[in-house]
Amino acid sequence: MEAGQQRSRKDGTPAPTEAMKLHILGKNINIPVFVVVLSIFLLGVLVYNEHVKSITEFPFPWPGSHWMTDTTDLTIYEEEEEEVELPPRECDLFTGNWVFDNETHPLYKEDECESLTEQVTCMRNGRKDSMYQSWRWQPKDCSLPKYKPRLLLKRLRNKRLMFVGDSLNRNQWESMICLAQSGIPKARRKRNVLMKTGSLSVFRIKDYNATIEFYWAPFLVESNADNPDMHSVPDRIIMPESIYKHAVNWVSVDFLIFNTYIWWMNSPTIKVSRGESFDEGSTDYEEIDQPVAYERVLRSWSEWVERNVDPRRTQVFFNSMSPLHFNSLNWGDPNGIKCSKETTPIHDASTAMGIGTDRRLFAIAENVTRSSARVPVHFINITALSKYRKDAHTSVYTVRQGKRLTPAQMADPRTFADCIHWCLPGLPDTWNELIYAHILSYS
Ligand SMILES: *[C@@H]1O[C@H](CO)[C@@H](O)[C@H](O)[C@H]1NC(C)=O
Ligand SMILES: *[C@@H]1O[C@H](CO)[C@@H](O)[C@H](O)[C@H]1NC(C)=O
Ligand SMILES: *[C@@H]1O[C@H](CO)[C@@H](O)[C@H](O)[C@H]1NC(C)=O
Ligand SMILES: *[C@@H]1O[C@H](CO)[C@@H](O)[C@H](O)[C@H]1NC(C)=O
Repeated sequence: MEAGQQRSRKDGTPAPTEAMKLHILGKNINIPVFVVVLSIFLLGVLVYNEHVKSITEFPFPWPGSHWMTDTTDLTIYEEEEEEVELPPRECDLFTGNWVFDNETHPLYKEDECESLTEQVTCMRNGRKDSMYQSWRWQPKDCSLPKYKPRLLLKRLRNKRLMFVGDSLNRNQWESMICLAQSGIPKARRKRNVLMKTGSLSVFRIKDYNATIEFYWAPFLVESNADNPDMHSVPDRIIMPESIYKHAVNWVSVDFLIFNTYIWWMNSPTIKVSRGESFDEGSTDYEEIDQPVAYERVLRSWSEWVERNVDPRRTQVFFNSMSPLHFNSLNWGDPNGIKCSKETTPIHDASTAMGIGTDRRLFAIAENVTRSSARVPVHFINITALSKYRKDAHTSVYTVRQGKRLTPAQMADPRTFADCIHWCLPGLPDTWNELIYAHILSYS
């Protein structure tokens, strides 16, 4: 439809206008020039409209038209029959090491992925070193399948893929959009759109009728931090048994990727509401140990999955925790300032494993995801492999409260370096390569 209209304006308008001009000039020689021009214009519009009507009903495009260029691109999509070697299903993809490989990585270029937000575009924000983009995860006993965007796009055709959770999952969502878009010819990417409605952001890839979505729910269950734009509440209160408010938005999604971790990290206990809903203005709460509350939350989540997900249609993933690199002593460097000076990964496994994450929460997540009986949940064990990557955080090359750091703030990494989130292209692309491997192997 759109293409047809564009074409008729290009090819159709000039011809009839010329014809009308001759006709009018032949009959009305004395009419002032502006009236002639006006008539030509009005008749032109009339004929043009008629023209559009007939063209939109016309099944085939005219040769050489704009529409043809578009079809050519579409044919390329279809013609390319690509295959990749898949790892054996029993291979452990999460144990391995990082290999510098700037032939294959990064999988897309920072300045070629238009949808990336300023939070993650480290180079554009002033980062000078770029090696962090070129590490490939090499599992010990097999290899990840080569990333081919069209293979992913084919699996996503007419489907919805949704990340649900906190800002780390949003980080990974941004990566997934870039990975998928890298398979769309540049001129056609303009047709893809991002729509944000409340907690849900939907990126639509039009040529494949596919969506890559992010749903903000930092605790998965209902909490007072659920506002997607204003959630920096000092006093976090959750309702571990209240999940349906969010979960109604997850129904009939084809690929669901959950996480929840970073918001659990500020204190040993968490406030749990005694009320039924925040909408009712309830503020009465009790303080509970993090692991106890975390398990209650994940049990609610797991119960929802078991009751509501159709395993024939939907694949469910749970991302384990993404590690932080705030203390350079953890990797034996007394001169480091948080993660801000790091340009290479940790190479020694035992040092990497010393990077702190809450093992209790990890064990609970592993346990709960494994306990699901009806719906398999694929546990994406990103924790250990990400611990090596002290070099991959956004550090001072990012935004704070929506604004890029000022030079003064950048000069003060001890206060301002973000050693939680990750640059893109970068580590979250690898997390998505793991998802990709699974999608290819199990669809
Ligand atoms: C996660 O991966 C690490 C290696 O990267 C491994 O040591 C650990 O056992 C794995 N845990 C689970 C639950 O898969
Ligand atoms: C890859 O890295 C090597 C060593 O740093 C460098 O010489 C080479 O030019 C790089 N190649 C690409 C394609 O960036
Ligand atoms: C487009 O995708 C949606 C799912 O996101 C699906 O419900 C719908 O049927 C698809 N449309 C077509 C024409 O296949
Ligand atoms: C794992 O879950 C089982 C029930 O599914 C429970 O009995 C066990 O205590 C749990 N272990 C941990 C470490 O949470």
